Amino acid sequence: MHMVNAARTNFAQALIRWQKSAGRHDLPWQQQGRARDPYRVWLSEIMLQQTQVATVIPYYLRFLARFPDLASLAAAPGEDVMALWSGLGYYARARNLQRAAREVIAKHDGRFPRRIADIASLPGIGRSTAAAIAVFAFGARAAILDGNVRRVLTRAFGLAGFPGDKAVEQRLWALAESLLPSRDPVAYTQGLMDLGATLCTRGKPRCGDCPVAMLCVARRENRIAELPTPRPSRATPQRAVTLLVLRSRRRVLLEQRPPRGIWGGLLSLPELPAGNRNPRRYAERRFCCEIAAVTPLPVLRHGFTHFRLDVAPLLCEASGTGTPDGCVWLSLKKLAAAPLPAPIRKILESLT
Ligand code: ADE
Repeated sequence: MHMVNAARTNFAQALIRWQKSAGRHDLPWQQQGRARDPYRVWLSEIMLQQTQVATVIPYYLRFLARFPDLASLAAAPGEDVMALWSGLGYYARARNLQRAAREVIAKHDGRFPRRIADIASLPGIGRSTAAAIAVFAFGARAAILDGNVRRVLTRAFGLAGFPGDKAVEQRLWALAESLLPSRDPVAYTQGLMDLGATLCTRGKPRCGDCPVAMLCVARRENRIAELPTPRPSRATPQRAVTLLVLRSRRRVLLEQRPPRGIWGGLLSLPELPAGNRNPRRYAERRFCCEIAAVTPLPVLRHGFTHFRLDVAPLLCEASGTGTPDGCVWLSLKKLAAAPLPAPIRKILESLT
């Protein structure tokens, strides 16, 4: 535990020192030497949410030239805002930006709110963006946690588990909070961002230049490639069905599938209800016939987008049959024209 606490203190201090000497200092939204305009900070953080710095810069400058302050943005026609955003992508950001500007005018007298909870309640601003704005604009001591920071923290502290998981996300936020230094929140926060964007990258992190390499768990344990833990790949779910092939005088009984779900509206073979152990008796009752013999046909494996279906057909030689509702007797000679799912067609063709 003491080791962990020491690692935490060192983490923040090493990061701050590194940010000051090697981090990014002259991005257009980093007005040096004076308090930063919350409007500019906010605009930059929104643009940087899903877009890299190099792409953002010209958009940011153009946007600011046309809308120099929150009031001009709030008053602008929506199309003008969208026009300046066009090419940047994720256009909900632009719509939310203007909605938020109008909300600040209406609810906060036109002054950008200072409280993180108030910032976070504006459209398009989540917990991490609200904290980043509070740090950069007001010098608040608040934790951020975006994609880059998640990568840095899971690696540095060896935190496994898919960060999309609620529990893992909570632990990450708690870790991010616990790491906050008591001084220099701006350099620390910018350092986290800079480290994630420039050194601790997804593909080939440059650990040789990293200010926290000496305490990085992933590096020590050779787990850089496996952190952050990727989304668990769903094993393809499997389902198995038994289908009844009632054959009588070279015809086969087909049933129309319900309009929704797999093979919706097509003709298919009737399904044996799951768990039914007596197909002969089931078929005789359900289809008012007599079954002379039941023979399993080869199982067919069919891949759907979201699951795999193993189809086990049972050939039932039937006699004395009627035609139940929703069913038709299809002559095996007329398979080609019938609306059948591919695996069913394959089963029936094996009978001809
Ligand atoms: N990504 C998100 N916010 C950023 C910022 N303020 N500077 C650089 N990259 C960022």
